[in-house]
Amino acid sequence: MLLRKTVEQVQRETEKSELKRTLGAWNLVFLGIGCIIGAGIFVRTGSAASLHAGPAVLISFVIAGIVCGLAGLCYAELSSTLPVSGSAYTYSYTTIGEFAAWIMGALLLLEYGLAASVVAVGWAGYVVSLLRDFGLVIPVALTGPTGHTVMQAVGNDLAPVLVNGAPVTYLFNLPAFLICMAMTALLVVGVSESAKVNNFIVAVKLTVIIAFILICGGFVIAHFDTLKSNWDPFIPAATGEDGKFGWGGILRAASIVFFAYIGFEAVSTAGQEAKDPKKDMPIGLLGSLAACTIIYILVSIVMTLIVNYKTLNVPDPVAVAVDALGPQWAWFAKLVKAGAIVGLTSVVLVLMYGQTRIFYTMARDGLLPRVFATVHQKFKTPWVNTILVGLITACAAAFFDINTLGDMTSVGTLAAFAIVCLSVIWLRKTHPEIPRGFKVPLFPILPGLGIVACIALIFTVEYRVLVFFGWYTLAAIILYFVYGMHNSRLAKGLDEEDGPDMGEYVAPVGTQP
Ligand code: ALA
Repeated sequence: MLLRKTVEQVQRETEKSELKRTLGAWNLVFLGIGCIIGAGIFVRTGSAASLHAGPAVLISFVIAGIVCGLAGLCYAELSSTLPVSGSAYTYSYTTIGEFAAWIMGALLLLEYGLAASVVAVGWAGYVVSLLRDFGLVIPVALTGPTGHTVMQAVGNDLAPVLVNGAPVTYLFNLPAFLICMAMTALLVVGVSESAKVNNFIVAVKLTVIIAFILICGGFVIAHFDTLKSNWDPFIPAATGEDGKFGWGGILRAASIVFFAYIGFEAVSTAGQEAKDPKKDMPIGLLGSLAACTIIYILVSIVMTLIVNYKTLNVPDPVAVAVDALGPQWAWFAKLVKAGAIVGLTSVVLVLMYGQTRIFYTMARDGLLPRVFATVHQKFKTPWVNTILVGLITACAAAFFDINTLGDMTSVGTLAAFAIVCLSVIWLRKTHPEIPRGFKVPLFPILPGLGIVACIALIFTVEYRVLVFFGWYTLAAIILYFVYGMHNSRLAKGLDEEDGPDMGEYVAPVGTQP
């Protein structure tokens, strides 16, 4: 269980990818923002505000940002200490050992695989809304999670849609399913993001968000006297129900909007491509996190002032806020939706890509069946693995609701971050001699606080999500003893060179986990 890969071994493995060191600090910040800004701010902020925190959702963003900051410091230390293609999986394998790496693999399936489903559902919400603007209506039954009641806005509240007196329910979410399958097809034939495409998409996303902040912010300032009532009360009184408003609601909302920050650690995956990883990695990780925190706080201030928070529980809350500007701004609402769609498409792609690479690495280590590492002869991609990941994410996106999926993602990611913080403490104790490009300040207080904060936030989610998470972790532990432990190549003393050739697979810029 405590078998560890040596730093040299991981270096040898990662050297094979022959990646060029082309990314500077700014590229890394952009890479981070590219993965960070997605369904969290474009979609989940709406339900976090309307169902849990009200305008105080901005406090939730600050809390979630601080938790991510603590984890970000730990990622920065690990990525500047272990010059490896550093997914959290590899960090765990190199520091704590195989069992922790296995559990990390299971958690990353929630962080990347399920997050891709969440973003796909968010993408579907904006697509349905934009198509409707152009008069194209997708049958409503095909646009939501299986069995859930279709709701409509009645004033500031929601009420079920009735046909012949009976509530209408969704069959499944067709657009969300289709985007996952489309991204799968792209990944199988090997289309992935290059740094240039990534920079372009990040620019589109940032332009849309900043335009939103400036235009809607200007409107809020001009009409502050009337709009300030939307912040009264700023923290709506707790209803008595668990996680509904008051401080309990703010904490619940923090675990929801935590989703909006997921992805900053993708920067650490570009360790091999950074020009000067020791310096640039911490800048990339913490810089992108800081930039997004500021953007999120501004967006949530504007959103909750321009409309009443109760109206934000919709698939396209940013567009609802823009609608408040009046009909003459309808073009801007369309532009925001189009920008969101472009931005969310790339997040689905990157998350699915990350997931396939984690499975690929685990299969090469013998912890998953070898078929996950089989490379297509023509396309040079791990195609079986990609199709499987595509099907899992597509089905999750088609059948489940975004809130449940999002909460599961948040819980898995928080647990993964806690292990990363633990890895920093572990490595300082076991290998104090390794030179560290960046050191977490106030050691061991900050990594310790990171662990406590992540675990505390896990316990703010809905009870049923906690129960799911408990069973999921238990299943992962049992699988390790039944499968992983007996097939691990490290345990068998095999090195990369000893196995049959699974084909050469070169990761594109900035996307390998
Ligand atoms: N942080 C990413 C998003 O919000 C995963 O979509």
